Amino acid sequence: MFAPVFLLCLTSVLYQTSFGFNLTIIHTNDIHAHVEEMNKYAGECKPEESARGQCFGGVARRLTKVNEIRNANPDHTILLDAGDQFQGTLWFNIYKGIEAATFMNKFNYDAMTFGNHEFDNGVSGLLPFLNMSNFPIINCNMDVSNEPDLQGKFNKSIVIEKSGKKIGVIGYLIEETEFLSNPGETVKFNDVKESMRSEITKLKAQGVDIIIGVGHYGYGNDMRLAKEVDGIDVLVGGHTHSFLYKEAGTKGPSVEKSEGPYPTVVTRPDGKPCLVVQVFFAGKYLGRLHVNFDNQGDVTRWSGLPILLDSSVQPGNLITDAMVAYHVKSLGQNGEWTDAAIAVLNSGGIRAPIVQGNITRGDILTVQPFGNNVDIITITGLTLKKMLEHSVAKYSNTDRPGAFLQMSDDSIFEITAKYLSTMDQVMMGDEGRITILTDCSTSSSQRHRASIHFIAVFVTVVTSFNIIMKYS
Ligand SMILES: *[C@@H]1O[C@H](CO)[C@@H](O)[C@H](O)[C@H]1NC(C)=O
Ligand SMILES: *[C@@H]1O[C@H](CO)[C@@H](O)[C@H](O)[C@H]1NC(C)=O
Ligand SMILES: *[C@@H]1O[C@H](CO)[C@@H](O)[C@H](O)[C@H]1NC(C)=O
Ligand SMILES: *[C@@H]1O[C@H](CO)[C@@H](O)[C@H](O)[C@H]1NC(C)=O
Ligand SMILES: [Zn+2]
Repeated sequence: MFAPVFLLCLTSVLYQTSFGFNLTIIHTNDIHAHVEEMNKYAGECKPEESARGQCFGGVARRLTKVNEIRNANPDHTILLDAGDQFQGTLWFNIYKGIEAATFMNKFNYDAMTFGNHEFDNGVSGLLPFLNMSNFPIINCNMDVSNEPDLQGKFNKSIVIEKSGKKIGVIGYLIEETEFLSNPGETVKFNDVKESMRSEITKLKAQGVDIIIGVGHYGYGNDMRLAKEVDGIDVLVGGHTHSFLYKEAGTKGPSVEKSEGPYPTVVTRPDGKPCLVVQVFFAGKYLGRLHVNFDNQGDVTRWSGLPILLDSSVQPGNLITDAMVAYHVKSLGQNGEWTDAAIAVLNSGGIRAPIVQGNITRGDILTVQPFGNNVDIITITGLTLKKMLEHSVAKYSNTDRPGAFLQMSDDSIFEITAKYLSTMDQVMMGDEGRITILTDCSTSSSQRHRASIHFIAVFVTVVTSFNIIMKYS
């Protein structure tokens, strides 16, 4: 509708902007307690589907991808969540938001805003989450002057500095939350547009010229907000679970059809562009938007699409992570964080995935039926090197031989940073020794408890159970 006008603007500013500021915005919304992976319809992932690599999302893939994007350019990347972490799977029914805080705390979110479902268990049901979360929560249109429990728990906005540039991020929540959820009598919702307007004015007066809204308001509402309230560069949205991809009606990389382009470009009252984004729900996708700003902080160019979190995203191995985590718990003295930071396990020892739902002793024995122990062994650098070579010697993606070693997440770092640099010395002297945790069928120096114990650590340490099938 306004595309032709807009294109003119774009070409006229393109030339003067190559010296501007680039920002990558990674975003999530409406995760709805989807800790574990899901099938293509965002329903429960069945073991057969998981084994065939037909499942998506889950907190492990989400974190792997977020870290990958952020590590590529940390000074130009921010991560935002547009609300509704609560409600949607058993994880919420049981942990009531503690699961959301636990996992979100690992992501280093730059900011989150409340969704309506964050109030499903009333204000008191939100407090444990707020108490535990280690990232800023922002909202500009909630009036909590009559709700002491929420006072001081969030700000209207946050100013994030990246490479010396100030980025103002403002949170907002749909006014109907009053009826959609249970915020009670003490929390009032002011008009989103009015509240945004006054917060934008405040930030601009502080010299902040990049303004990003992160809100739980819905796709249609976000487009109207961008069109009616001046000065917003990007709106990271949620609530309507909108799948934005290419033009409306086109099929995305999975089963969803696009409801509109990603980003949806809206012309602001001042004629400049505002980019509106949202990424479906349940964390099946991760939003990634690259934006180029000119020196006035206006949007000049952009690119990006939602990333489908499919089985090509490989998180660290869960069982070996659990082995290390369990061992750290049982130890943890003398300066070093543990004496055995590396855990290895041959893939052939992992026999089955674990299905979403109650995890029984039977499930655990199905995964690891051999009743092996976790042992601590000390080996030479040469042996470690031989082990790694043996592990990959016959590796093939289609055959997935059992000899392939599963390694705990930190192992790669530990081995490269600490040992490979001195590997030659270690090998020559043959004196250097490395302590590792492994699953042995015969006893060795220090016998540890049966595998059943460390798998119990799963429940608190790790995430999408189904992915442990990958190489078995
Ligand atoms: C921003 O990104 C664009 C496109 O990738 C690039 O051409 C430009 O040089 C970048 N600008 C800065 C200041 O890094
Ligand atoms: C908040 O955390 C503190 C200490 O971690 C705890 O004592 C308190 O009970 C928590 N409050 C709520 C409402 O969860
Ligand atoms: C609110 O903002 C102030 C000033 O930047 C900051 O010190 C405080 O920690 C923030 N509060 C919360 C709950 O984020
Ligand atoms: C899970 O375990 C609980 C407690 O034993 C039980 O009430 C519930 O029905 C079980 N759920 C499933 C899906 O088996
Ligand atoms: Zn919602």
